[in-house]
Amino acid sequence: MKKQHVTCILVGCVLSQVSLADVGFQAFWRHAGQAQVLKTWNGDEIRAFKQTASRERDPGSGELTQWRGVLLSSLLESALSTLSTENKAQIDLVILKNESGLQALIPRALTVKYPVLIAFKKDLSSLDSVIPWTSRSKVMQENLPLESYFLKHLTQVEFTNYKELYSEYFLKKRTDPAAIRGEKIFIQSCMACHYGSQNKAAVQVFLKAHPKVKGLPKMTEKDLRSLESYYQARLQARLAAEQTHASR
Ligand code: HEC
Repeated sequence: MKKQHVTCILVGCVLSQVSLADVGFQAFWRHAGQAQVLKTWNGDEIRAFKQTASRERDPGSGELTQWRGVLLSSLLESALSTLSTENKAQIDLVILKNESGLQALIPRALTVKYPVLIAFKKDLSSLDSVIPWTSRSKVMQENLPLESYFLKHLTQVEFTNYKELYSEYFLKKRTDPAAIRGEKIFIQSCMACHYGSQNKAAVQVFLKAHPKVKGLPKMTEKDLRSLESYYQARLQARLAAEQTHASR
């Protein structure tokens, strides 16, 4: 971790490399609209976690690559150790962020079910997230955009809750199991890629033809039917709201 910072003379220069040695890897807890720092690990502290290795295909190069690092679940356990059991239980979303502002929105359940790795080289020049999609190929059956979970040059991890971020996408009327299933797919899969886009609300395009995008998860017929039910439920809720509004 001995990256040299560019010394800038001109105004408006932005640091291109943030080094772990300088700022550490930070863990936040986002709740009630606030982000609170839980932990900041320096390089030695990251190394001190139990290390593991695995061979996984690199989504960039397509090559089988040996990765070494620590489990995301270990970092999670350590960061959340000071929270109450109740607060801990509410966390269902882990957001990894990197120095370019990219995000990986990973359901917490995935980190429990599979050994998601925070990998690094000996010099800790970069922390990279790795999904065990080669060694544990069963993970490919989840309807999740796994490729979007591979991020390089991580700087932060945030522990939070889908409802905290996406409350407007949760159905109020929770009676149709298919719609609830569709809601989960929408919030976990679609939002993983669309967290920053303006057109978050559009659902039906996926059902007909989503633009050809790298890393799109495979959806089964059942998944698509669930998304359709979710879309219909959202439409109904919107129409009902409009009617109430109009009759006032
Ligand atoms: C792997 C990442 C990824 C996933 C997962 C994903 N999308 Fe997209 N989606 C994109 C990208 C990238 C574009 C822009 C493609 C283009 O313009 O060529 C896009 C385009 C769209 C568009 C067209 C309008 C727009 O915003 O550009 C809609 C609507 C859309 N996605 C909805 C969805 C829905 C609904 C889901 C979940 C069922 C979903 N997407 C899942 C990456 C993704």
